Amino acid sequence: MKKIRIGALVSGGGTNLQAIMDACADGQINGEVVCVGSDNADAGGLERARKARIPTFVLPYKATIALSKTSPGRIPLNIPIDFNIIDCVQKMLKQPNFKDAEESRTKLVVRAIVEVELFKNLEEFQVDVLVLAGFMKILSPYFLDKFQPDPFHPRVMNIHPALLPSFPGVDGYTDAWNYGVRVHGATVHFLDYGEDTGPIIGQSHYERDLLETFASFKEKGLGLEWDLYVKCLKFYCKDLLRVEFGPDGKRRIVTILLHKPKVTT
Ligand code: GRF
Repeated sequence: MKKIRIGALVSGGGTNLQAIMDACADGQINGEVVCVGSDNADAGGLERARKARIPTFVLPYKATIALSKTSPGRIPLNIPIDFNIIDCVQKMLKQPNFKDAEESRTKLVVRAIVEVELFKNLEEFQVDVLVLAGFMKILSPYFLDKFQPDPFHPRVMNIHPALLPSFPGVDGYTDAWNYGVRVHGATVHFLDYGEDTGPIIGQSHYERDLLETFASFKEKGLGLEWDLYVKCLKFYCKDLLRVEFGPDGKRRIVTILLHKPKVTT
């Protein structure tokens, strides 16, 4: 079976990326990581990729955001010609926290300008599936519609350090710890236009021990993330994931096939 070409995006240490790279190397995943990008030139995840001789790229979020601030209201001229702000805003208005304002529109334009670079890299490396592994930027409808146009064949996955829909946002461990949960975990999901709201592929959970410290709570969770991401990617690379509307006819859900149906000729 052809090896699935995996692209990855990181912002930090890249421990999830390392788990995926290792699982590809030892044959657990029928895939290979073919490129790794980041918004952060100093991301440890880029160093891990370089050590494994995997091509890397840095996305120009910092420079593009700075440019958009130099002349508010007049965005840099390199806006992609296929970018449609109205279309993006309409899609974002369906998300709970989006407010249509100049600032949020500027963010959508900045993202689209950077996402053109992302899209070019993914095309160059002929990426089949993009995994966000500790990537802290939001991908906009502009990119998602280009890279995964078919909502029932999504190709962008993310790992979130909480049992969604509980504790979305930037710091699942701290939020759950402060809330005093007894059970915590991680979620791997496909991306949709929302933040941490896409169709869930897999979840793993663990108990908070009575003598737990926050450090041990987080450390346990991170180890669980690595196993979960590898497991979900294994299913994806074996083409055992199906996405369809759930019982409410609105939310998409993921079904994991036990085995691939025989192709009847
Ligand atoms: C992980 O908890 C991940 O879920 C979150 O960032 C943390 C670090 O990830 N988004 P990594 O070590 O960079 O993979």
